[in-house]
Amino acid sequence: MDRYAVIGHPIKHSQSPFIHQQFAEQMGQLLDYQRLLAPLDGFADSLRHFAAEGGKGCNITVPFKTQALDIADELTPRAELAGAVNTLHLLADGRWLGDNTDGAGLVMDLKRLGCTLMGANILLLGAGGAARGALALLLAEQPAKLVVANRTPARADELAQHFAHLGNIVSAPLETLDQPFDIIINSTSASLQGETLSLGDQVCNPDTRVYDMMYGATETPFLAWAREQGLEHRYDGLGMLVGQAAESFYVWRGVRPQVMPVLEALREQLVAVK
Ligand code: ATR
Repeated sequence: MDRYAVIGHPIKHSQSPFIHQQFAEQMGQLLDYQRLLAPLDGFADSLRHFAAEGGKGCNITVPFKTQALDIADELTPRAELAGAVNTLHLLADGRWLGDNTDGAGLVMDLKRLGCTLMGANILLLGAGGAARGALALLLAEQPAKLVVANRTPARADELAQHFAHLGNIVSAPLETLDQPFDIIINSTSASLQGETLSLGDQVCNPDTRVYDMMYGATETPFLAWAREQGLEHRYDGLGMLVGQAAESFYVWRGVRPQVMPVLEALREQLVAVK
């Protein structure tokens, strides 16, 4: 049976085994997908060991996505642009292909939710790894304008420069945002520290759609802010999680599983453990 895994540290809360087993069942395929805890200084060894045991591909999560970029023998353009690898695929000649499916997962989910990206004014909050992973794919959808805003403005400036050749992208300090956007995407980890972003209410109008890459059993602080603004279209990142997994499955197996049934099952689980 072909073996796959998700490698990270910590790893025990990863939903990836559940998602990929569901995909495999849906597509009538037999595969084994496990969680692998790699020591913080032992990612390369863990990967070698996994390959020696017949591993065919893996997902990479925190904190190893940039190490995976360095270890990959070949990179897809989207992984190179993201500066991070979340999917490794063993090629027929034994080399690792490094890919990044996070941005594709986000765009897939935004479209599923009915967001029109072409011609839209988009605000992306945050300039860390999650933002970087999403930008190339967002710009490929040809928004009219994409503004990156971050607590540390220099990081947003750097991202805007890095992706300038792909579309109309600019950076702006959080405090100076005073125009409404069609879509606001939160890629920051502020809510992990129980913090909220300081955003003025000028950034939205009643039609603004907000998307938080974070998700949880309860409403995220960013989506709570959006609700307080009276916004109706509020979405969390659970669909992005399933979307990036579907794209990884496609990289490995050459077929695209359906996202919706797995997303529904995952949502049920998440609510049940609340
Ligand atoms: P990730 O890979 O999840 O993007 P990261 O690279 O550490 O993680 O980036 C975290 C992002 O969340 C950054 O944009 C960070 O802002 P800074 O660049 O100013 O650090 C943002 N962030 C984290 N905590 C925040 C907070 N309390 N308020 C605002 N932004 C925050």
